[in-house]
Amino acid sequence: MARETWGTRIGFILAAVGSAIGLGNIWRFPFQVSQEGGAAFMVMYLAFVLLIGFPAMLAEFVVGRKTELNAVGGIREFAGGMWSYLGGLFVFIGFVILSYYSVIGGWVLRYVVGSFTGGYVGTTAEGAPVAQQYFGQISTGMDTLLFHAIFMAIVIGVVAVGVKQGIELAVKVMVPAIFLIFGILAVYAFTLGGAGQAYAYYLSPDLGYILANWKSLVPAAAGQGFFTLSLGMGVMITYASYLDSDENLALDGVSIVALNTGISIITGLIVFPILFTAGIDPATSGPGALFVSIASALGDLPFGRGVGFLFFLTVFIAALSSAISLIEVVVSYAIDEFQIDRIKATSVAGIAIFLLGAPVTTDLVFVDLYDIFAAQILLVLGGVLLMISITWVNADQAVEELQKGIGDLGALGTLWIWMVRIPVVVVLLISLYLGITGYIEFLQGPFAEYLASL
Ligand code: TRP
Repeated sequence: MARETWGTRIGFILAAVGSAIGLGNIWRFPFQVSQEGGAAFMVMYLAFVLLIGFPAMLAEFVVGRKTELNAVGGIREFAGGMWSYLGGLFVFIGFVILSYYSVIGGWVLRYVVGSFTGGYVGTTAEGAPVAQQYFGQISTGMDTLLFHAIFMAIVIGVVAVGVKQGIELAVKVMVPAIFLIFGILAVYAFTLGGAGQAYAYYLSPDLGYILANWKSLVPAAAGQGFFTLSLGMGVMITYASYLDSDENLALDGVSIVALNTGISIITGLIVFPILFTAGIDPATSGPGALFVSIASALGDLPFGRGVGFLFFLTVFIAALSSAISLIEVVVSYAIDEFQIDRIKATSVAGIAIFLLGAPVTTDLVFVDLYDIFAAQILLVLGGVLLMISITWVNADQAVEELQKGIGDLGALGTLWIWMVRIPVVVVLLISLYLGITGYIEFLQGPFAEYLASL
């Protein structure tokens, strides 16, 4: 049977963009910026995206298009030998990420619903945003578990039916909607009293801070870079496997990275002015940064609830299209390797993922427990092994494949391979080491305190 290919060139870009743009840009990005000191993180993050994320994305594309296989089979065929086991790691990573991603997706759904009741809009008698309290209520508990279940049920439903058309359509609506709605909110945020202070915090980096904190900045930026671009677990291998070989992969990669980064930057331009204006210190806002800031701003805006509804609905679509790409890695593996039917594979995987995520609905400390592990350890590990297997084992084929649709790259092809072989791999190994030591500190600190408090 011939493999399906994307209907149009734009179809592939849209699907990859649909995977990349998600909670990583809108929820995770502002929360990472605020935990890592603002603009210092921005500098590191942008450096990672351009110097590591982009070449790594090309590497995943090349494997997918060359082998025309899913992530697991693709890397097995491309690199072979012991690299065949990498696929198992990818499937595991997909499980872990989606398990808590869905919990956050459930928060978003809750805000979509809350837009009708207006529950999160306005300020309290003391002048604090109502959203702060609202977020506290909705982020843990039985209802949170219920919304996590609803989110997973929607993911299972969409994936079981088949997704290609759906994703293309969703993204065609979502990307323009994000630029429009977020653009309006960013302009609104610009008019706020705290805007100047926020821009300084967000956009003017302090070299001293970077030097003093590089040990947490590096793994945080690496984790965010992989997470936001959907790299490190073969998602882009799977998507590129549907491509024709006359496609210019480098150009597609540039478009995807640019759109994705643009959305993150705009999100920050909304969230930080609002937080500063509300007198909330970003450093203390944690995983609630997005939910508290946006929601509190809506009370001020004409048609606030309507804007809120559109905003959270758009975020929900973005989250859903990313969640689909995560579960697809698991599902396409089960289908290709074990000939399980699509509906069965999706339901079993979906239920297992739901169960794995359930603890995250009991306390916010589990968000960190899962998220740091997934982004700063698993994705970086997956990424570095992937890069080694592609550029050290089979570099000639990688360059040859990249050149299809571009033409002879000459020295640039060699540059790309060597850039990934040494600097990218070394930086990722350092990030991985720092990520692991940071995680151990988290386990011994905040997580141990949580366990002791039970
Ligand atoms: N990139 C998505 C986001 O920013 C999340 C995501 C989807 C992802 N697929 C992935 C992250 C694969 C890592 C690997 O929300």
